[in-house]
Amino acid sequence: MRTPLIAGNFKMFKTAAETTAYVVELRGLLADARGVDVLIAPPFTSLAAAAAAASGSAIGVGAQNIHWEREGAFTGEVSAGMVREAGARFVIVGHSERRTLFGETNATVNKKMNAVVAAGMTPIVCIGETLEQRDRNETLAVLDRQIKEGLDGATGEQLAAMVLAYEPVWAIGTGRNATPAQAGEAHFHIRQRLKQWFGLDSAGRCRILYGGSVKPDNIARLIAQPDVDGALVGGASLDPKSFLAIVKGAAI
Ligand code: PGA
Repeated sequence: MRTPLIAGNFKMFKTAAETTAYVVELRGLLADARGVDVLIAPPFTSLAAAAAAASGSAIGVGAQNIHWEREGAFTGEVSAGMVREAGARFVIVGHSERRTLFGETNATVNKKMNAVVAAGMTPIVCIGETLEQRDRNETLAVLDRQIKEGLDGATGEQLAAMVLAYEPVWAIGTGRNATPAQAGEAHFHIRQRLKQWFGLDSAGRCRILYGGSVKPDNIARLIAQPDVDGALVGGASLDPKSFLAIVKGAAI
């Protein structure tokens, strides 16, 4: 009942021209792909190019971040309305690189999540523990706090339409992905909490992606876990052919 979603996070890679070429190639490759939703999140400056190149296709476009205010004296920041006008319909919120490199907290994640919803887009809210937290056996408690504080105030309906991404920080860009069992355990726990806090129906409709070194050769085993509804893919999304292989692997 939950259509798998494969989302490509380009991070700080690809100019507008490179993004256009990528989308043109991906469109052709995806022509016969069925049963999987696909989106890419390029840098701000490539959003309009991505949206133009993806127009009329099934490829969704997302931003990697926003500021929660609508406008104001916030040098260097971009609002939800601005990325929406540029063509974004999804926004990644609280990625671990934002949390660790740019000081984002569960409180700022919450403000951004609200701003994305208010602008009529879908937030992709990222959660996940560090290696130290996992080693101290704090994984589930960390996830609980990130969900409780990050999604504070969201309604069941909003939660149902949202996307969560479980990304263990130690698995991002390291080539060291969580085992299917580790991912399955975390996703099961997240779903249980969502049921408890937002109700069975809403929790059952919310998609929970796995992220962290997802590649063509491990997607099938990850997506086979009952509560894994897709993937947030960094490095392996940058080449359209490997991204396509992940999309196809998620359809099985
Ligand atoms: P990775 O990145 O696939 O390169 O590990 C995932 C992410 O940061 O979303």
